[in-house]
Amino acid sequence: MRRKLAAGNWKMNGTRASLDELRLLAGAHPAACDMLICPPATLIAAAAGVAGAGPVLIGGQDCHAAASGAHTGDISAAQLADAGASHVILGHSERRADHGEGDAQVRAKAEAARAAGLTAIVCVGETEAERDAGATLAVIGRQLAGSVPDGATGTDTVIAYEPVWAIGSGRTPTLAQIAEVHDFLRASLRTRFGAAADGIRLLYGGSVKPANAAEIFAVSNVDGALVGGASLRAADFGQIVAALSAA
Ligand code: 13P
Repeated sequence: MRRKLAAGNWKMNGTRASLDELRLLAGAHPAACDMLICPPATLIAAAAGVAGAGPVLIGGQDCHAAASGAHTGDISAAQLADAGASHVILGHSERRADHGEGDAQVRAKAEAARAAGLTAIVCVGETEAERDAGATLAVIGRQLAGSVPDGATGTDTVIAYEPVWAIGSGRTPTLAQIAEVHDFLRASLRTRFGAAADGIRLLYGGSVKPANAAEIFAVSNVDGALVGGASLRAADFGQIVAALSAA
């Protein structure tokens, strides 16, 4: 019912030479899951050219909430779409931390993404202190309610659960902890959106690598992954795609 999604977030990594990695992925046999690479903005148009009509989709890592105007250095959702993006990551914890983005701003960006025909990958996740305080589900529930626009569907929205303490750390939650959050996300979306919630894909992100991908993909309500470091090399990301295709 939900097609699985392996998404790579290159963050602030990569130059034109990195497109060789994308070429390797794009030349691979189509996987039994969707594949998405979100390179830095400087590479989106070139990446879309490399990906062509093949199996790899291209996305942005952020957009502005406004359609256009005097916002130096920002990029609109329509500009991402024009450059060849089909998706955009929004509310990543690094943007929440580095740029002070809050739930209302993320929601406004997600509305802008929808208006431009992009699928928003809305990120939520607790800090280690919040988990230690037993506040994980409360934090995630608040972020989900505040960041996801009304009327969300599987076409315009993907949710990524990324525990802040698992990002780039080599640490991951237990499979039971991932299941608890993903089941909570699914139940919360059903309460708010009814049957449409069942089309919304839920990705896990945070230190996903070839060695742990298969066990994470077997967890209830995990529909794929949002991968940072291990998406930079086609050899690693390809193994994650293979694990998801087999899940
Ligand atoms: P890592 O896979 O490098 O931990 O990054 C996860 C992430 O933040 C993806 O958006």
